[in-house]
Amino acid sequence: MKIKTYHIKTWGCQMNEYDSARISDLLRHHGLEEVDTAEKADLIVLNTCAVREKAEVKLYHQLGRWKNLKKNNPACLFAVGGCVASETGKKIRARAPMVDIIFGPQTYHRLPEMIQRVESGFGPQIDVSFPQVEKFDFLPDNSARTASAFVTIMEGCSNFCTYCIVPYTRGGETSRKVDDILYEINHLVENGVKEINLLGQNVNSFQGLHHDGSICSFAELLYLVNEIEGIERIRFTTSNPIKFNQDIINAFGDIPKIANYLHLPAQSGSDRILKLMGRPYTSDDYRDMIRRLKLVRPNISISSDFIVGFPSETAEDFAQTMKLIDDIRYDGSFSFIYSKRPGTPAAEIDDPITLEEKKERLSILQNRINNLAMQYSREMLGTTQRVVIDGKSQYGGFLCGRTENNRNVNFVGPDSLIGSLADVEIIEVLPHSLKGKLL
Ligand code: SAH
Ligand code: SF4
Ligand code: F3S
Repeated sequence: MKIKTYHIKTWGCQMNEYDSARISDLLRHHGLEEVDTAEKADLIVLNTCAVREKAEVKLYHQLGRWKNLKKNNPACLFAVGGCVASETGKKIRARAPMVDIIFGPQTYHRLPEMIQRVESGFGPQIDVSFPQVEKFDFLPDNSARTASAFVTIMEGCSNFCTYCIVPYTRGGETSRKVDDILYEINHLVENGVKEINLLGQNVNSFQGLHHDGSICSFAELLYLVNEIEGIERIRFTTSNPIKFNQDIINAFGDIPKIANYLHLPAQSGSDRILKLMGRPYTSDDYRDMIRRLKLVRPNISISSDFIVGFPSETAEDFAQTMKLIDDIRYDGSFSFIYSKRPGTPAAEIDDPITLEEKKERLSILQNRINNLAMQYSREMLGTTQRVVIDGKSQYGGFLCGRTENNRNVNFVGPDSLIGSLADVEIIEVLPHSLKGKLL
């Protein structure tokens, strides 16, 4: 390859972050060096997200800002990947002819080959296909050396919730082989990783093959990961109420290393809206899952995603969502106003609710959940928390750790603790973080 340096910008979910890290591993493996700004790079990779509207607008704005870079460095290459690339494909070049490479979430292992083809004069390269080969087979080892690392276990989605673009951009559900996952985790542990975050669009649907050809469920995988020596904490995301079964709940009971935290996106508390969303559970099914989970983990912290203002959502539907929030007493949420994704069934549903109304509902919901989260934080005052120490805090002189329920704790301690776990006592509760004392 003629190019020497690269820079990656990432938008979207944790899986996109993981993909970007793997792209980085791949490019380094081919002799490229990472640089911290696009201006310094010979190859600029933009890994995009399509989950809400304006994703394309954002893409073209960003490319517009970079347009002049080719003038200063005519050899520099632009590669657009991720879910917008998957959704939009070659149309990107019609609006932004500066883009040399368009790749999808399932074809990033081909990036070096695509770069070489551009360099050899074959012109722009576009590949957003969903090949049947395992891209993971073509990637070098995961090089993460942080306290906490992501590992994709399954990818894609076959649920087709009526509002969602992901099944179209990531393709149908596919699971990695069990041995490959365990190999990657073992490798990470050798590099000092202590906390593993298992990733999938719906981890409960994991159906990975064992080497004897039999199928491993998600719950079974949790037990296998638990056996890896050196792993101190296990997280996963996203677990969806669909297929959140008793085996997974039992794993929470059996495996103390699974963090005392579950992100289980409800989306809405109204059964009518859930039905329109194509989510095959009722709010009472959801309550029952949490009730059973709390039998084995009484103090578990629960968070959710909510879509506010789904087409036709009435004040009564919204009240049902608020009721669910009060019943579950969430400790956090990622909540957004419904965003129309062309080509999805929900885009066709009549939507008489004004944006003003939706914004007001969103702020009511977020305030309520923030208040609940603050109550939980206050209850943590004076308790001892085991934290994963990610690094130095942005406030000078402090280390930053993360509790099981995902709160940042800043505390004084030696740099040598970075990358390990430690016990801290919570001594102060601030709006967005906690202050602790190393024990
Ligand atoms: N597979 C996960 C969610 C992945 S998408 C699950 O089903 O739980 C992440 C979140 O984006 C979703 O939980 C949803 O809340 C939000 N989202 C997806 N499509 C959206 C849309 N069209 N408008 C607003 N939010 C959306
Ligand atoms: Fe989207 Fe539904 Fe699949 Fe989640 S389960 S990724 S919301 S289609
Ligand atoms: Fe976005 Fe694709 Fe993830 S649409 S949320 S980057 S799966």
